[in-house]
Amino acid sequence: MPSQVHIDHAPWFTESRLGMFVHWGLYAMAARHEWVMSFERQSVGDYEAYFKHFDPDLYDPREWAGQAKAAGMEYVVLTTKHHEGFCLWDTKLTDYKAPNTPAGRDLIAPYVEALREAGLNVGFYHSLIDWHHPDFTIDDIHPLRDAPNVEELNAGRDMAVYRDYLHGQVRELMSNYGQIDYLFFDFSYATGPMAARYPGKGRDDWDSGKLLEMVRELQPGIIVNDRLDVPGDFVTPEQYQPSGAMMSGGREVPWEACQTLNGSWGYDRDNLDCKSVDLLVRMLIDGVAKGGNLLLNVGPTARGEIDPRAAGALAGMGEWMRAHDRSIRGAGSTSLLPPADCRYTRRGNRLYLHLFAWPLKVVHLPGLAGKVGYAQLLNDGSEITMEALDPSQAAQNTQPGGQPAGTLTLKLPVQRPNVVVPVIELFLNDESES
Ligand code: GLC
Repeated sequence: MPSQVHIDHAPWFTESRLGMFVHWGLYAMAARHEWVMSFERQSVGDYEAYFKHFDPDLYDPREWAGQAKAAGMEYVVLTTKHHEGFCLWDTKLTDYKAPNTPAGRDLIAPYVEALREAGLNVGFYHSLIDWHHPDFTIDDIHPLRDAPNVEELNAGRDMAVYRDYLHGQVRELMSNYGQIDYLFFDFSYATGPMAARYPGKGRDDWDSGKLLEMVRELQPGIIVNDRLDVPGDFVTPEQYQPSGAMMSGGREVPWEACQTLNGSWGYDRDNLDCKSVDLLVRMLIDGVAKGGNLLLNVGPTARGEIDPRAAGALAGMGEWMRAHDRSIRGAGSTSLLPPADCRYTRRGNRLYLHLFAWPLKVVHLPGLAGKVGYAQLLNDGSEITMEALDPSQAAQNTQPGGQPAGTLTLKLPVQRPNVVVPVIELFLNDESES
């Protein structure tokens, strides 16, 4: 049996396999990357223009929930605060919050309500980093890093004060919105390239142990990611596809790849580097075949809508998921080796062969002769016939050669089914196989 790694107290997570990440804040107005404040060395004063004009009149989280559901997603994760420091909820700990903009209200409460209504699991992203808070010290990624007097500025900043603020805000988020299923903290950089000139930040700056303890006490069912610089419930490879199962301390761990549509997390108006639906679906499949989830990001506009490009990508994923979710939901990896250009996922006695390229008339499955009771195309439930070619048979003019003993050969139609990635559902005779 292959090992399927789950989070014991929250099996919903690895069952669901696909979620929606939402990056939304003042940076949606700049519409040129959520790090715009840092990239352009903007001061708190420069950024004020966005705060004064934030008016998301088309914000309707029910729409977001509907689009996520239609895409086959089972959870959503929204930025409560990103590195810019702007808070989407009615926090009592700062004035730098949505209720004090033209938006005039808490934007997190209706989000939670809409997700619950739609039966989706509720996730928050919360930035540990804060470029607006006056006590958050200037470091290598801070917008003020090139100021001539960084040391002097930092002398007046006290991370202990910021730490209290961080803990206080997380307490609010974990206390005031009912059950929260998922929390994504972002991020730590105590060492590495982001800690070259000035000290970076990590577990001591956040007091990660205490923070995590509080979160778990207030939300016993919650799952928390791994970016507090202490281990969490799952790991979060970002913008790459792991080459296999993710390991920690020699053990397979639950993982979730977070991926953008175009390289930016926030709404990025002029960015046309959008991944195709074809690529996105293959990324999802590839991840599940390695035992992981996909958290696919959208960056809604300053008016609160998921823009047409992102909406199109979600709709395309949904079209594929509508017919193929059986190979994704509740499915995971298998130790069986797939043929070239293919990925296997497995759920119980069902094995799913995903064909990234469509071969001519046959596909050979090593090791599966005699082990499959029935096979069908998933998109239309049409039978796929099987045979075990005699290994001693030599290839001739019009006759393919035999395959190594134990190989099962599936006969495919010449026409590739008109779906983004065709899937063949194989019913294994013996559940303990593979
Ligand atoms: C990061 C980035 C960021 C994004 C996030 C998503 O590390 O700083 O902008 O929110 O990862 O995983």
